Amino acid sequence: MSRSSTAVIDRVAPVATVHGATKRYPGVLALDNVAFSIAPGEVRALLGKNGAGKSTLIRLLTGATEPDDGEVLIGGRALTGSGPQRTIEAGRLGVRAVYQELSLIPSMSIAENLFLGHWPSRGGVLAHGEMDRRSRETLGGLGLDLDPSRKVETLSPAERQLVEIARVLVGEPKIVILDEPTSSLAAAEVELLFKAVRKLAAAGIAVIYVSHRMAEIRQIAASATVMRDGKVAGTVEVAGAATSEIVRMMLGHDAQEEHLVETALGGAVVLEVAGLVSRPKVAGVDFVLRRGEVLGFAGLLGVGRTELLRGIAGLAPVQAGTVTMNGRDVTALPYARRVREGLGFTPESRKEDGILPLLGVDENIVAADFSKVTAFGVISAPRKTAMARGIIERMGIKTARTGTPIGTLSGGNQQKAVIGRWIYADATILLLDEPTRGVDVEAKLQIYGIIRDLAASGRSVIFVSSELEELPNVCDRVLVLKEGRFVAEFLAPDIRTEGLMAACL
Ligand SMILES: Nc1ncnc2c1ncn2[C@@H]1O[C@H](COP(=O)(O)OP(=O)(O)OP(=O)(O)O)[C@@H](O)[C@H]1O
Ligand SMILES: [Mg+2]
Repeated sequence: MSRSSTAVIDRVAPVATVHGATKRYPGVLALDNVAFSIAPGEVRALLGKNGAGKSTLIRLLTGATEPDDGEVLIGGRALTGSGPQRTIEAGRLGVRAVYQELSLIPSMSIAENLFLGHWPSRGGVLAHGEMDRRSRETLGGLGLDLDPSRKVETLSPAERQLVEIARVLVGEPKIVILDEPTSSLAAAEVELLFKAVRKLAAAGIAVIYVSHRMAEIRQIAASATVMRDGKVAGTVEVAGAATSEIVRMMLGHDAQEEHLVETALGGAVVLEVAGLVSRPKVAGVDFVLRRGEVLGFAGLLGVGRTELLRGIAGLAPVQAGTVTMNGRDVTALPYARRVREGLGFTPESRKEDGILPLLGVDENIVAADFSKVTAFGVISAPRKTAMARGIIERMGIKTARTGTPIGTLSGGNQQKAVIGRWIYADATILLLDEPTRGVDVEAKLQIYGIIRDLAASGRSVIFVSSELEELPNVCDRVLVLKEGRFVAEFLAPDIRTEGLMAACL
């Protein structure tokens, strides 16, 4: 593993520098007099709670956002343009970013996506051969064996994520910014990504790496800049800093302790799934979910956990089997009817089917059940605000106002709102697909607490997570999905990460 020492970095001219940058949004000081600098070949972690200002700082570097105060230098040159001009300027100077939310065009091929906007051409004619060759080269450099002519819509989420990363490598970047790149990758793919990052660094490219996974940061970054409330709390060398120290810089106080679930609980059966088949991934699944139970689904990425949840929710076609909710066979009922029966579902991808970005946080929360805020057929604004405020407080959502467009919230705060929606709707059976994706260390514990509270009040939850370490903190029971069927069951207090991992493989 290449780890450049800070002593060396100090002597090299930085590839990017931010001086005294301040950025205000209505009701929020997103960045407060921020200074930042990174050298060629350096891998820097960028850490901080949800809403700390990480993505905003990144947008300053990519030129997507202009600071109200201060300046941004790339390769020693200050960005001067405004609007789209500024992004183009930063791009020309070599800044490339991979975002939390994917931005590929599904109906286009991998090659077309890789060269989006700068397709190679000869005399104005698209040079397909060259595009294909360079695509193969770039994908191969990342260790990906994908046919560049494949349409992006046929790729798995993990493959899409890696193609997204491949895309930034086209056009010889000087700085590559990865905003939570591994949240949808399986362990083996994370390794692939790390390899790619090390290659970039070895080639002198600076990498900024945003993540909420502390273990990962140790594997990939030499140094870490920690943000808190729009300010830089400090920059440390990762090898010389204890995780607890870094977390303290993030939170401003010590971390709470994790509580493992001590005994498995559960009452009457509220959901029964029998012989469920949803091709191609779900090959015959049987289980029951009990009142007051938190049931985890573990399994390798792509094993079909999402497809199973969607089948249970009535969002994916089912070829055989039955779904019974509270004693009633709902197999033939559409999703909306199951919701009326008390089902709640938060999808894996907020962008695709989670949120309505232009609508307020309040609208997004009450969207799950308008009847609660409607009086005589009209939505009552005060009632909507009051209801939404209750959820915002309970979930600890950081937003300037209840009506702020949800799309402007930080990633982790959007995620909390999506879960909050079903708490507001008082769903009795909650299906949560990767609910803590993009959520900071403190908020994760908070979400576990909320889920345990829901269970204690008689709600039932199915919890899917790729981070196996979190299952012992929240689940009464865990079922392991493999090749379309459940192959193992673990009961609290005997749910352990290592055992789960072994059962998944
Ligand atoms: N376009 C915008 N309009 C209004 N407010 C914004 C906008 N962009 C960011 N903010 C606010 O600025 C603050 C910092 O947000 P930012 O997205 O930078 O946080 P983050 O550190 O990336 O968090 P996360 O870990 O959740 O992704 C938040 O309070 C956010 O709501
Ligand atoms: Mg962010």
